[in-house]
Amino acid sequence: MPAPFTKSKSALLLSLLLGFGQAQATSEPGPTALATRLGIPHPAVIAHRGASFDAPESTAAAYKAARDLGADYLEMDLQRSKDGVLFALHDNNLQRTTDVASKFPERKDSPANAFTMAELKTLDAGSWFNAAYPDRARPAFAGLKILTLDEVIDIAEGNALHKPGLYIETKEPKQFPGIEHDLKEKLQARGWLNPTGSKLAKSELAVGQGKGKVVLQTFEKSSLELLQKEMPAVPKILLLWVGEGSIEPKSKVTFAESGEKDKAAYYARQEPKDKAEFQQWIDYAKAQGAIGTGPSAALTQGGDQSYSDLVQPWMNQYTHSQGLLVHVYTVDEAVDYQKVMDAGVDGIFTNRARELLAFYKRPAASVDQVLKNNGY
Ligand code: G3P
Ligand code: CA
Repeated sequence: MPAPFTKSKSALLLSLLLGFGQAQATSEPGPTALATRLGIPHPAVIAHRGASFDAPESTAAAYKAARDLGADYLEMDLQRSKDGVLFALHDNNLQRTTDVASKFPERKDSPANAFTMAELKTLDAGSWFNAAYPDRARPAFAGLKILTLDEVIDIAEGNALHKPGLYIETKEPKQFPGIEHDLKEKLQARGWLNPTGSKLAKSELAVGQGKGKVVLQTFEKSSLELLQKEMPAVPKILLLWVGEGSIEPKSKVTFAESGEKDKAAYYARQEPKDKAEFQQWIDYAKAQGAIGTGPSAALTQGGDQSYSDLVQPWMNQYTHSQGLLVHVYTVDEAVDYQKVMDAGVDGIFTNRARELLAFYKRPAASVDQVLKNNGY
């Protein structure tokens, strides 16, 4: 019986003769080297809407907690008020996370961008959390405000010992023509388009002071192109999912037609039309100057954050082969942290920054302590 073909001396010799070793040495750097060159921690802890498992999303409580826990990035969804102020909010309207229905009953269904910043500031963006999650409720969450981008920047800069970066998504950017330019102006005015830590030794440089202090993210191709035009030197991520406006699915069956018990089960069965369809999105991201992608994940327990599994090893390998990083959204459980890390991702969006830091064996204070320290 002949010996099985392994990576033998002869194979090694052959690859050297053909120059494969040289080709590998001069091709794209590995993900760790790429992240290091960009000033992005590897693997990265991206606090999704702040420490939003423990405090009302996108409020000062959530962002201060994420910062003081030691997250690398404060993630936010960017919108613009009727009077032109940039602010952090995920949903298109204010119903889920504020008391808009009692303060502005006749406008409760209006998009958030139909309100001035003064109007938005009258809303209570914290009490909904206490009602929805009584086991995590705190009296001081009641009355928390929607935050402007300026205020999120203040929070990111506000801890002398740990300075996280900002990971900013242009949310529904077609609703906000010119928001990419507005964002650039604001970041420039606040000194966030230049690394500021030049006086520090490289090893002491915090994320929020280095080259990777801002990462920009979007699901929209047109917004990626505008972000690249406005801020070519700032790292950008193209967010991915399977569905309208993103990767074309293999099956056109809708959730209603599918008979699946919930959306997570439906999405878990959704997959790209074929390999080429997935690859062309990666190729597009690279061609437009993105430094990586933000794909969805299918979560073990399902739930409303569980989508199509776009971090299968072959997908991550292809993305890496194009010299791009993979930051997966939105993962909260250790079993899934392990799964996506084993599949090869380079960072994780999480609502539970404390859990992810612990998973990576990085130091982190207790959630209760950081919330109390900040008056919550
Ligand atoms: O920004 C990526 C991640 O946040 C997933 O999307 O809907 O939570 O903004 P979403
Ligand atoms: Ca987001």
